[in-house]
Amino acid sequence: MTETALANLQNLYRIFTVPEAPDSTLGSVDHAISENVADFLQKHIVALERSLEDIEKDFSTSKIPEEPSFVSAYTEFVKQKLVAQSVHTAAPGFVGHMTSALPYFMLPLSRIMTALNQNLVKVETSKAFTPMERQVLAMLHHLIYRQDDSFYEQWIHDSQHALGAFCSGGTIANATALWVARNQLCRPEGSFAGIAQEGLFKSLQHLNCNGLAILASQRAHYSLGKAVDLLGIGRDNLVLVDTDDDNRIDVDALREEYSKLCEKNIRPLALVGIAGTTETGHVDPLDELADFAAEVGCYFHVDAAWGGPTLFSRTHRHLLNGINRADSVTIDAHKQLYVPMGAGMVLFKDPHSLSAIEHHANYILRHGSKDLGSHTLEGSRPGKAMLVHAGLSIIGRKGYELLIDLGIEKALSFADLINTHPNFELITAPELNILTYRYNPAWLQEKMARLDKEQLQQINLLLDFITQEVQKRQREAGKTFVSRTRLRLARYHGEQISVFRSVLANPLTTTEILTAVLEEQCAIVKQTQVQSFIEKIKQIIV
Ligand SMILES: Cc1ncc(COP(=O)(O)O)c(C=O)c1O
Repeated sequence: MTETALANLQNLYRIFTVPEAPDSTLGSVDHAISENVADFLQKHIVALERSLEDIEKDFSTSKIPEEPSFVSAYTEFVKQKLVAQSVHTAAPGFVGHMTSALPYFMLPLSRIMTALNQNLVKVETSKAFTPMERQVLAMLHHLIYRQDDSFYEQWIHDSQHALGAFCSGGTIANATALWVARNQLCRPEGSFAGIAQEGLFKSLQHLNCNGLAILASQRAHYSLGKAVDLLGIGRDNLVLVDTDDDNRIDVDALREEYSKLCEKNIRPLALVGIAGTTETGHVDPLDELADFAAEVGCYFHVDAAWGGPTLFSRTHRHLLNGINRADSVTIDAHKQLYVPMGAGMVLFKDPHSLSAIEHHANYILRHGSKDLGSHTLEGSRPGKAMLVHAGLSIIGRKGYELLIDLGIEKALSFADLINTHPNFELITAPELNILTYRYNPAWLQEKMARLDKEQLQQINLLLDFITQEVQKRQREAGKTFVSRTRLRLARYHGEQISVFRSVLANPLTTTEILTAVLEEQCAIVKQTQVQSFIEKIKQIIV
């Protein structure tokens, strides 16, 4: 071996063995990153100076570096090119998305999780992490279904069953639930070996129908579209039912859609209720949906990716009444359980449900083993359940209750601020902690009440430009942030309009910050280009 090759080998060996002492290479790297992150986070939501196109130039080579480099050199790259150009999702003024601040203890615990590098697919690579994940699933199951102690004693560590599946997020959780629903409907029967064995075509022949469908409201998360695509049901058969004025599924419209499916001989595979819609935070009437699902004999899933933790709150949990009647429920831990990105769960009322999607392999996941991988869509998975366990243990039910109650109170006071402000129109009032609004001065709102449909369309189009421009400029300025979406509103003849969307989940967001969000938006409207839209509106109205 040459001297260089030997040095390379020794260095390679070092990167797996250097201890994390403060003065070691890794220690100083870590320190440097922490310092830099702290400095950066104190100042910005987003770095201002560089456009995404410009940033792309730092990540444009497709060649893997030939030679090893120093960790310190790479750290410098991370500091300059990555950290400084990241989004500070924990900033109290970042109230536009579902990603918010993390409790401080998640960081050191994440390091332990990474250091242990457990693989939850099987007990052989996770040991205590498997029972812990099963416990976390049982805790969330209990939050939803409230079974008695003997139920959990029987099922929590049962090798043949699982109370739920831990996964990387709400998308996989929803897909897992609908996979179970599909396989239950198309289960083995007589000479038919089931959809898992024989596929969709033979299943439709067996069920003597022309297709399968999933029913949910227009406000459903787009992950349901991915699920129907993956499950072979077809996007055309994801039936999105109209909502009422409060963005909740219209149960009469649901009945109509169901009848249309029956006429076409299409079998409803599942009905999905939403507890906390992504865009407006509203909760479907879950009890009514459970009644309907029972009436027509269809699987009932609740997507509570966002709103599930509302169950911690004694004041607000009634909003989710009926959730315990669902066959399965999605909850995202990386949303309102304040766990770092990449943690979701789907819980099943019946511990036998997951058997419908069970898979085994000879080298792992053997029949009768407690390996969780036999019941999950994903294979290798990190020990993220540890962070959910930490949150539940350290914050506790009462702590989460406080967080939920605070968020909802804050959303209500932000709605008050908007309602009393002369320049804004509240579009959807908060039921949980999400609301939507737009810039629309009181004088204009007054005039709009007297306009015909065509004039309203013209004005709304110009207001859309204002919403889009203000949101973009506010994001680029990097001081405060709200997101933007489009909603159909009865008050504007069912027309779609652009709105600001605000998510109040960060406990550090104050009324002063929310006032500043509105002030900044008013200041942006005064900028020449945005003002030109106001001038155009005035011309239409005069
Ligand atoms: C209601 C709802 N369901 C599902 C999802 C998907 O979750 P994830 O992004 O974790 O896959 C989201 C994400 O925002 C959501 O709001």
